[in-house]
Amino acid sequence: MPIIRTEKLTKIYQQGSIEVKALDGVDLQIEKGDFAVLAGPSGSGKTTLLNLIGALDKPSSGKVWLDDTEITGMSRSRQSELRKNHIGFIFQFYNLIPVLTAYENAEFVLLLKGVDHDHRREKVYGLLKKVGLEGMEKRKPYELSGGQQQRVAIARALAADPDLILADEPTANLDSQTEQGLMDLMEQLNKELGMTFLFSSHDPEIIERARRLIVLRDGRIVSDTRP
Ligand SMILES: Nc1ncnc2c1ncn2[C@@H]1O[C@H](COP(=O)(O)OP(=O)(O)O)[C@@H](O)[C@H]1O
Ligand SMILES: [Mg+2]
Repeated sequence: MPIIRTEKLTKIYQQGSIEVKALDGVDLQIEKGDFAVLAGPSGSGKTTLLNLIGALDKPSSGKVWLDDTEITGMSRSRQSELRKNHIGFIFQFYNLIPVLTAYENAEFVLLLKGVDHDHRREKVYGLLKKVGLEGMEKRKPYELSGGQQQRVAIARALAADPDLILADEPTANLDSQTEQGLMDLMEQLNKELGMTFLFSSHDPEIIERARRLIVLRDGRIVSDTRP
């Protein structure tokens, strides 16, 4: 069974008096364990698609299933419950909470889930070590480089052991060496834990690593291959 399925997913944005069709009837299945990249030019609908799959936004029409649960029609509180338990997000601009330390940012979702102090501590220290931030736990985002902030964001996304990671151009603002390191880590998590990844990117270094490459253009899937 796929972990994600979309059916005729359509999103129309209103830009003033103009309607923009950002997604146009997308039918997509992501299989468990996929390491898939959504490619396509800027404006082709990548971010919109990830946001709809993660229930961060509502489609104009069409449906999304996560496992066998249809999430499109759910209440917002059930959607956020589902996100908390199943999905980790990584954004292009990190979206860390500026007043919290690296440790606290990564810990946040575990607090929401009611995980007790000792387990939170063990998990977060382990993850920050894994992403190469040992010793930087107490730093705030402004005391970290872009690459380090994205490492915190990755630790945060992984903290709740999600089944699925949605990553929107996660390395767009990083140097090539940092990018390679983070991609190695995500590949390792995919191989060792079977975590499913769906990236958006137009970066050749990410596209090269895709085990499945889905290309969007003008809100439609124009090719879907396993290179
Ligand atoms: N919040 C929004 N309001 C209006 N139009 C939007 C909004 N978000 C995206 N769009 C439009 O939808 C289209 C797809 O955008 P997006 O999903 O961000 O593409 P990509 O991530 O591939 O660059 C673009 O034409 C963009 O201008
Ligand atoms: Mg985008």
